[in-house]
Amino acid sequence: MIFVIVDEITFRFAGLSDISAIREIERKSFSIPYSLGFLKRLLSTPQHFTIVAIYKEKIIGYVICRLESVGKGHIISLAVDPEFRGRGIGTKLMTRAIEILKAKRCTYIYLEVRKSNYVAINLYKKLGFKIAGHIPLYYSDGEDAYIMVLNFRLSIPFDFSNFF
Ligand SMILES: CC(C)(COP(=O)(O)OP(=O)(O)OC[C@H]1O[C@@H](n2cnc3c(N)ncnc32)[C@H](O)[C@@H]1OP(=O)(O)O)[C@@H](O)C(=O)NCCC(=O)NCCS
Repeated sequence: MIFVIVDEITFRFAGLSDISAIREIERKSFSIPYSLGFLKRLLSTPQHFTIVAIYKEKIIGYVICRLESVGKGHIISLAVDPEFRGRGIGTKLMTRAIEILKAKRCTYIYLEVRKSNYVAINLYKKLGFKIAGHIPLYYSDGEDAYIMVLNFRLSIPFDFSNFF
């Protein structure tokens, strides 16, 4: 077991040159990884940004985000290397992503998560995300997704009809 001192973990924006390290974590984390082309697009187009967590010069986690339109932020993907989970790294990646999306004037942030992924659902709930709906058969293996939303304008009810 690797003992990680969380203070030694740093965060930075990722670029295309980080694709191999990100892919490695992605393969360990998801049963259906993104295609290389899609991941390249996520890492190289201006409406996306990726934050990586670094320990001893190695990428150990990432969060990929998209600015979809004025006021709308999307968490595309989040993963932490299995050896480094349970130490608050996922939370720190998400906190940074939320801060940046908020600074870019997002009024809400949304994401999709497998209904069975209680670990991620717990994390998102802890950060204030709420389940706003679900998409049947969202994943290619037939599992449904929850849509979770962090709404910064709490006084304005979330308008689900304008969601997509
Ligand atoms: C989801 C994931 C990113 C969490 O990363 P992490 O660094 O382990 O998360 P943290 O240590 O910050 O934990 C944050 C919260 O997640 C929840 N959590 C973490 N591990 C958990 C576990 N084994 N069981 C239940 N809840 C858990 C808890 O609410 C925890 O908060 P707490 O420590 O205050 O109780 C990581 O498990 C992962 O990479 N999973 C595979 C990929 C994935 O499912 N990504 C999300 C796709 S939507």
